[in-house]
Amino acid sequence: MAGKAGSCIVVCRSGVVAVYENVCPHISISLNIFDDQDLTDLLDDNLLVCSNHGARFRIVDGLCVSGPCQGKRLTSRSFSVLDSKLLITTGS
Ligand code: FES
Repeated sequence: MAGKAGSCIVVCRSGVVAVYENVCPHISISLNIFDDQDLTDLLDDNLLVCSNHGARFRIVDGLCVSGPCQGKRLTSRSFSVLDSKLLITTGS
């Protein structure tokens, strides 16, 4: 996983691989407060937790299930795997 503007978070958990823009739908800032934060701290079972105000997102589809942006979603990014490399689609 990576942090800050323009970056994505790649999550592989319980057989699910997901790629999301690192932008919390609450106030459009990154999910991790600090650049050097260990992003595994954002994981809680099958949820991704925003370290700013604690919004909790399902890893499988990015839906916020609790917190200040409940009902909103993380923005997913398309990806493919080629020769064991994860290729994330850029642009719209
Ligand atoms: S910025 Fe993510 S919960 Fe507020």
